[in-house]
Amino acid sequence: MTTHTPHVADEARYDQDIYRRCGRSGLKLPAISLGLWQNFGGSTSVESQRDIILAAFDLGITHYDLANNYGPPAGAAESNFGRIFSKKLKPYRDEIIVSTKAGYWMWPGPYGEWGSRKYLLSSLDQSLKRLGLDYVDIFYHHRPDPDTPLEESLSALDQAVRSGKALYVGISNYGPDATRDAARILKDLGTPLLIHQPRYSMFDRTPEQGLLDVIGEEGIGSIVFSPLAQGLLTDRYLKGIPKGSRATHSEFLTKDQITETYLKRAIALNEIAKGRGQSLAQLALQWVLRDERVTSALVGASSVKQLRTNVAALDFDPLTNDEIAAIEPYAVHGTERA
Ligand SMILES: NC(=O)c1ccc[n+]([C@@H]2O[C@H](COP(=O)([O-])OP(=O)(O)OC[C@H]3O[C@@H](n4cnc5c(N)ncnc54)[C@H](OP(=O)(O)O)[C@@H]3O)[C@@H](O)[C@H]2O)c1
Repeated sequence: MTTHTPHVADEARYDQDIYRRCGRSGLKLPAISLGLWQNFGGSTSVESQRDIILAAFDLGITHYDLANNYGPPAGAAESNFGRIFSKKLKPYRDEIIVSTKAGYWMWPGPYGEWGSRKYLLSSLDQSLKRLGLDYVDIFYHHRPDPDTPLEESLSALDQAVRSGKALYVGISNYGPDATRDAARILKDLGTPLLIHQPRYSMFDRTPEQGLLDVIGEEGIGSIVFSPLAQGLLTDRYLKGIPKGSRATHSEFLTKDQITETYLKRAIALNEIAKGRGQSLAQLALQWVLRDERVTSALVGASSVKQLRTNVAALDFDPLTNDEIAAIEPYAVHGTERA
């Protein structure tokens, strides 16, 4: 059970300057942010969720990333975060960046997913209710909609800002050309595109095929999701598939991804990490952050211990060019799966 006594945050939480400017905006984000896609739904204890959320804040992780559909069931992560936030973190609202998104299936009928103005603005209202917040800091369109004009989806984001329900807007899973178009349309509307949220890790380098260039040229920030490839770029699966790990219960990471080829790559990368005196997770995080166009690495965690290990990646010296070159043979190019 969580009590209503507000959390007393660690006074040392800002001692280390771990904040990076989000593109050419005025907003800084922590180099590592916490995502609530998994481990914050109905099947995880409230205590575990609370401990991870509070530990993050104490470590200077000021950014929590959500979406309408995170759970399970869909909506549960926002409700759980909202309850914990209101009991424990409310006094710190102005120190915290909360994001949410709409794009994936949320409710039945023609208005419950994709990118219509009807869906996006209704979904944001629902999210704010579940979160118990007056506004989110960043509202994203979660995925491109091939059947709705970009202008319609983006003018809904613009309206979210104008109505005070969001401070900034972002897009996720958009390709390079659509991202450039989105930046132009939003600029014309007067609400700059703050941030893009693509998947990026040593095992998925798709953003290197044009997206990061657009992000750099347009002055957009980026927060990269699944930088640990859902746990594959950690020591989690080096000695088998542990009970309770994501590969045992998620449709998004399946046991058949733990192949011989994967293990060879992960073991080689783990040796490089050991040579730096760090864990594979820490190496993987420093690898995505080697590119200054990446504002933040958006991690998930099923324990406070994992989160602490991940944030401690920021204590190490940046990777050298020789180390980056040594990683190269094991970091998969393009969309090829590990
Ligand atoms: N925009 C989008 O379409 C989209 C899509 C996916 C995700 N996201 C965002 O990105 C966030 C992160 O995604 P993700 O959870 O896939 O990220 P991730 O950081 O690549 O994977 C997190 C998982 O890796 C394992 N892990 C983390 N730290 C570890 C450590 N130090 N040692 C060993 N294992 C460790 C844990 O697995 P176990 O659970 O097995 O312990 C954890 O649940 C999401 O929460 C969400 O906010 C966005």
